[in-house]
Amino acid sequence: MCGIVAYIGPKAAYPILINGLRRLEYRGYDSAGVAIIQDHNIVLYKRRGKVSDLEDYCMDKDMAACAGIAHTRWATHGEPNDENAHPHLSEDGKLALIHNGIVENYLVLKQELMRRGYTFRSNTDTEVLVHLIEDIYKNEQVDLAEAVRLALSGVVGTYALAILSAENPGQLIVAKRGSPLLIGVGDNEYFIGSDGAPIVEYTKQVIYLKDGEVAVVSPHREIVIKNSENETKRPYLEKLEISLEQLEKGNFDHYMLKEIFEQPNAIKDSMRGRINTQKNVVSLGGIIEYEEKMLNAHRFIIAACGTSWHAGLIGEYLFESLVRMPVEVEYASEFRYRNPVINEDDVLIVISQSGETADTLAALELAKSRGATTIGICNVVGSTLARNTHAGSYTHAGHETGVASTKAFTAQVTVLTLMALGLARKKGKIALSQYYQLINDLESIPGKIEKILTQNDYIKEIAQFVAQTKNAIYLGRGVNFPVALEGALKLKEISYIHAEGYPAAEMKHGPIALIDEAMPVIVLATEQETYEKVVSNIQEVKARKGKIISIVSQGDKLVKEMSDYAIEIPRTEELLTPLASCIPLQLLAYHVALLRGCDVDKPRNLAKSVSVE
Ligand code: G6P
Repeated sequence: MCGIVAYIGPKAAYPILINGLRRLEYRGYDSAGVAIIQDHNIVLYKRRGKVSDLEDYCMDKDMAACAGIAHTRWATHGEPNDENAHPHLSEDGKLALIHNGIVENYLVLKQELMRRGYTFRSNTDTEVLVHLIEDIYKNEQVDLAEAVRLALSGVVGTYALAILSAENPGQLIVAKRGSPLLIGVGDNEYFIGSDGAPIVEYTKQVIYLKDGEVAVVSPHREIVIKNSENETKRPYLEKLEISLEQLEKGNFDHYMLKEIFEQPNAIKDSMRGRINTQKNVVSLGGIIEYEEKMLNAHRFIIAACGTSWHAGLIGEYLFESLVRMPVEVEYASEFRYRNPVINEDDVLIVISQSGETADTLAALELAKSRGATTIGICNVVGSTLARNTHAGSYTHAGHETGVASTKAFTAQVTVLTLMALGLARKKGKIALSQYYQLINDLESIPGKIEKILTQNDYIKEIAQFVAQTKNAIYLGRGVNFPVALEGALKLKEISYIHAEGYPAAEMKHGPIALIDEAMPVIVLATEQETYEKVVSNIQEVKARKGKIISIVSQGDKLVKEMSDYAIEIPRTEELLTPLASCIPLQLLAYHVALLRGCDVDKPRNLAKSVSVE
């Protein structure tokens, strides 16, 4: 969602800002804008559309400046157009502000500000912030940072924001509550970002601003940070854990394809140091202190959104089969508003690639407030989720840029598998032989994925057929049911084909009515306990002339013969099949989207990190 980048220092600000906006594109957006300071005046350019449109617009303008703020907007309040794009200006044009988050009480504030004579040029919630700050700055005889702090004390909602002031051209003011904000510290210069992507090529030294803090950054000066109580806080420097290489496409046409192909390594990285190969013991360092709590838990609740929720569903099978403990998997957005029963002996596992999904963070806070132990599974180091959980494990999949999550998903499933194995062994719920077998099999997964990836060209052929349809059904059973959901989600996210994931046996209770000769039915039919049942489901589809695309175990004959297309994947322990069976579905969605001319890495309307509820 919205992305923030800002710079102040001796360098030319505009190239840093525009480059930063390009790095933020992956978050999802529909307009972009930039404000710089020239001769004690704010110069502002905003454009609906792509960052490249803004760049073209600024091409013949004088963009020389040493300070500026820039923004990619994902519309919440007000349609995507030039006026609603950020930055927004104060009434006198001397302040410019960019914002990520939502001002929930914006209507009340807007009415009051209009009564005081402020004119609103946009339909956004954000514009109230800049007028409110201006109002306090002019009337309260305080400096700008204090005006920002006072203004924000009256704001209900979430924000990460950066402010440029024509009267104070040598400083930037930034603030945060609920949405992430990083300050990159360079050589007498500062870089601001809503994540590390726009910062990492300039510095790896960062300060993660905390909720309620307002910071003033000026070159040649120490950063001044104050919390909401006006107490001065010491900046805490940390190392940014991403590399520039991770942000580049390399030899791939799209980030998504790169990330699909990175999965063997991402999974190895997720396992690294967590399996003692000599002793064959699984141990996740990040949760050791809370292992007792987990072992003695009454039940596990897994809360997440989107693809991470699908990983959670697979986690349910893993935990129930191996640890023999009850698990409930919840959409974070529903869980948080349901007044759920949560006890102190419950363990909430929150799963999130970004660690910034608003609903997942709210579910986490709710469970914490009820005394539950909270464990995070997260990809972004230093994210809000990573900071706010009692303990957790990073997935270590590396920066994921494609909006459609791929390697983060398989890394989440890997961590859940390790967690389940470790707990199962400690609880004595799994025989040593099965434990070793699963560990060995897990270690062989990266190699198996390599083999599946060699079928890329064949999957491209299958995509020719799927690309022509309007609908698709994905079927799976047992641990492959969540894979069916994930396959369908991948297809709809990036190719805009309507797709449904269903438990294969449930097909008879509805989706079977949709099946005709034009309907592709993608069936996960690897050799598992319910193989024969899935075979019957395939017969039911065929009897209605549906087209079968199957994912089968290597050497399978029966389903292969019944299928219009069959993709073979190496055999593995049933519980681990999702790590392999999801790969062809990711590739299928990718190629279908390409054939349909869709923007694979930046699908319409979607955001990578959904930081508003
Ligand atoms: C968005 C993304 C999905 C992601 C979901 C949850 O919808 O487009 O790819 O699965 O958010 O995000 P999280 O960062 O919490 O895993």
